[in-house]
Amino acid sequence: MEQVTEKPVHRDVLTKGQQALLNAMPELAAIRLPQMRDTVEASVYVDPARFDAELQRVYRRTPIIAAPSALIANPREHAAVDIAGMPVLVTRTKDGAAHAFANVCRHRGMKLCQSDRATTGRLVCPYHAWTYDLDGKLIGLPRPEIFPGLEKKDLGLKELPCVEAGGLIWVGLDADNPPDFSSVTGELAADFDVFNMKNLFLYDKATFKVNANWKLIMDSMLDSYHVTRLHKDSLAQFGVDSENMIDRIGPHIRNAAHRGNFERAGITDRFAEMRKMMVFSYVTFPNGIIVVSPHYISLGVVRPVATDKTEVDYYQLYDAPPRDERIAGKMREAFDLMEQVFAKEDYWAAEQCDKGLRSGAIKEVLLGGMEVQIRMFQDAVTAALEAAK
Ligand code: FES
Ligand SMILES: [Fe+2]
Repeated sequence: MEQVTEKPVHRDVLTKGQQALLNAMPELAAIRLPQMRDTVEASVYVDPARFDAELQRVYRRTPIIAAPSALIANPREHAAVDIAGMPVLVTRTKDGAAHAFANVCRHRGMKLCQSDRATTGRLVCPYHAWTYDLDGKLIGLPRPEIFPGLEKKDLGLKELPCVEAGGLIWVGLDADNPPDFSSVTGELAADFDVFNMKNLFLYDKATFKVNANWKLIMDSMLDSYHVTRLHKDSLAQFGVDSENMIDRIGPHIRNAAHRGNFERAGITDRFAEMRKMMVFSYVTFPNGIIVVSPHYISLGVVRPVATDKTEVDYYQLYDAPPRDERIAGKMREAFDLMEQVFAKEDYWAAEQCDKGLRSGAIKEVLLGGMEVQIRMFQDAVTAALEAAK
């Protein structure tokens, strides 16, 4: 008898945590914006010693998103991404497993892979052509006789701790001290599984170079105050001043916000229906941003480079590739819109704030009730710095 293997059907039933946030959302007419008056010291954003401490004590000890699984969806693919001073290489081996390595050639330290994404199945160093397999093994080098006694097996790439969960590839940036991955494999991954993150199609990716401290970029994503103001000519049409429902999954922030068509009577436990009238978003600690729109999921990975320099990867992920020209056109429009919004609005604002704060003119910034999540995030960074002392 012929065997038919059924493709597993994706179940999009919201998790208990997601349902609790959704059920707590008031009707649009009953929204009451929270009240708060608080401050964050300007030095947090500009002090170089604070920046160095963040790299060493937060980024080197916490699971960090390197990329969505979709960036290297198939076996024998790999990609390079520099994270907080560590050149990282992520690969998918023949067996489908994701791995991470320091993207550093064992010969003279050259950055091995230079490209965003490649499918060559092996890695050849551009300097002297040492060649590595995607599981990190050194498989060949020119004129090996000039290195008497060299053992290829001792010169594989430095492997970094790596876990794939919830459709994201998480890495530890300290090869000798793996971070505790339990904060990203449990409830957080279960939430992302509802979004089917691990099977999404990566439509496109853009990398932004921003002249601002990385936390100003995180703040811009945690701030619901600016949406209908800074974005008045772009995203404002999709948003309202929402009474965000906020909770935490360990150090991560989970948020449910209204869209303009939200109605309590429409609440169900099905993700596909709910994404049309509300927005789930997550800030994964310390540097990931996930926003669920009706048709796509946005992933931002914020990568600190220097006190006043940051790179941000923006990924737009859909359920499936475009079926026809019309849908392809809509995807292009959505991607172009977000690219413009980040470059000309959010990251422009972050750069201007960075300049203002670096001038020393003000010693602290003020936070109001629609900026509660900035408070939560800044406290989480401070707590992580303290805990790692
Ligand atoms: S530095 Fe890579 S082969 Fe020489
Ligand atoms: Fe924004």
